[in-house]
Amino acid sequence: MEKTKKIRVLVLYDSIHGNTEQVAKTIHKVVVTANLDSALVKITESAKLNFDDYDLIFCGSPVIEWLPTAILMSFIKAKLKEHRAKRDVLPCAPLKTGKFAVCFGTYCGAHIGVKEATPMTESFFWHIGYSVIDKLHLPGQMRRPDIDKAIEQENNIEGIFGNIIGRPNQNDLQAVETYTVGILRHIGAIS
Ligand SMILES: Cc1cc2nc3c(=O)[nH]c(=O)nc-3n(C[C@H](O)[C@H](O)[C@H](O)COP(=O)(O)O)c2cc1C
Repeated sequence: MEKTKKIRVLVLYDSIHGNTEQVAKTIHKVVVTANLDSALVKITESAKLNFDDYDLIFCGSPVIEWLPTAILMSFIKAKLKEHRAKRDVLPCAPLKTGKFAVCFGTYCGAHIGVKEATPMTESFFWHIGYSVIDKLHLPGQMRRPDIDKAIEQENNIEGIFGNIIGRPNQNDLQAVETYTVGILRHIGAIS
C-alpha cells in the first residue's frame, strides 16, 4: 500500500462487551499499516475531540435497544450543539471538500436483521457536511446478563443471521481489513 495523500483518520467507537472494539482496532490497524495518521478513541463522557481535525471519521457502536450506546449518543448530541454554535450546521447541509465518514457497528439483528442497525450516527455526519461514504454493520454475539439465558441463546442461534456465537470472528475481521483498504483507496488516501 502506498500513500498518495496524507489524511488524518479518527476511529471513534464505543463497545460494552468487546465486539465493536475488535472491529475498531482492525480498522485502526489497517490505517496505521497504510502509514496514515490514525487516532483510536473509545468514547468516554470526558472525551475531548475536534472532528474538524480529521478528514475521515469511522464512528462505531454496538446497537443497544436499536440505537448507539447512550454515551456515544450524548457525545454526538453535544457535538451537534457545538457545530450549530459555530454555524457549521447549515440548511441543505453543504458537503465539505475532503471530509468523509463511515459508520460501523455490531449487532445481533436476531429479530429484524439490518433494520436493527440503520439509524446509528449517520445523520449527524451529513449534518456537518461530511459525506457518509458507507455503513458497515456486522453481526456480533449478544451477551446479556440482564435477560434469561435461554432468550440470549435463542437470539444468538435462531435469528436472521443464524448462529452468531463467536462473531465477529476471524473471517469477519479479515473482511473488515479488506473493506478498510477499499475505503482508503476510494477516497484517494492510498493508491
Ligand atoms: C443491553 C443490550 C441491548 C441490545 N440491544 C440490541 C438491539 O436492540 N438490537 C440488536 O440487534 N442487538 C442488540 N444487542 C446486541 C449487541 O448489539 C451485539 O451483541 C453487539 O455485538 C455488542 O457489541 P459490543 O461487544 O461491542 O458491546 C444488545 C446487547 C445488549 C448488551
